[in-house]
Amino acid sequence: MPRNIGYLTAKKTKLSDECYTPKYAVLPVLEFLNKNKVIWCPFDSSKSEFVKILKKNGNKVIFSHLEQGKDFFKYEPKQKYDIIISNPPYTIKDKVIERCYNLKKPFMLLMPLPALQGKQRFKYFSKGVELLVFDDRISYFANGHTKEVQSGNSFASIYFCHKVLPEKLIFRKLKPYQEEAQRW
Ligand SMILES: C[S@@+](CC[C@H](N)C(=O)[O-])C[C@H]1O[C@@H](n2cnc3c(N)ncnc32)[C@H](O)[C@@H]1O
Repeated sequence: MPRNIGYLTAKKTKLSDECYTPKYAVLPVLEFLNKNKVIWCPFDSSKSEFVKILKKNGNKVIFSHLEQGKDFFKYEPKQKYDIIISNPPYTIKDKVIERCYNLKKPFMLLMPLPALQGKQRFKYFSKGVELLVFDDRISYFANGHTKEVQSGNSFASIYFCHKVLPEKLIFRKLKPYQEEAQRW
């Protein structure tokens, strides 16, 4: 039986795309961001922890979501922005990765670790990618649960970055229950 059976058998549906990031998984990006950078969060509403935390950090944040009629594949903000940061829908990750490289902007995308390998993605990632890897799996707000994260996630998540991290591979510990996450 493959060791990543959980990931292989996980549901890959539009519902599985409705999976929201907890604040403790957004906090690690702050270390690599200058406060003067303008961020575009293209899969996010005002409720997104990416939007809330990046704003609180002092960054200017532009956010957009399909529900606002702003399809990532057709829409790009008119305002100047510096970096794309988000957790994109996994069912269409190949298209998301392709568009991010074509937009020629730095990015930080939180995605499942197995997304690193794939014929479609290879031609983009081989142009340059940096990885922010964690000690533990991230528990998301998923399956319609908005109050509590769902533990026992079947896949590891990492930030796939381009022209953001100072090194190709960076390891950090997640701090899910510590004061820092609560303070934000
Ligand atoms: C994995 S969720 C993450 C949401 C948010 N970024 C977060 O981390 O909490 C991805 C979101 O992208 C939305 N979405 C799907 N296709 C999209 C598109 N073409 N353009 C913009 N948003 C899209 C989905 O409806 C979903 O809410």
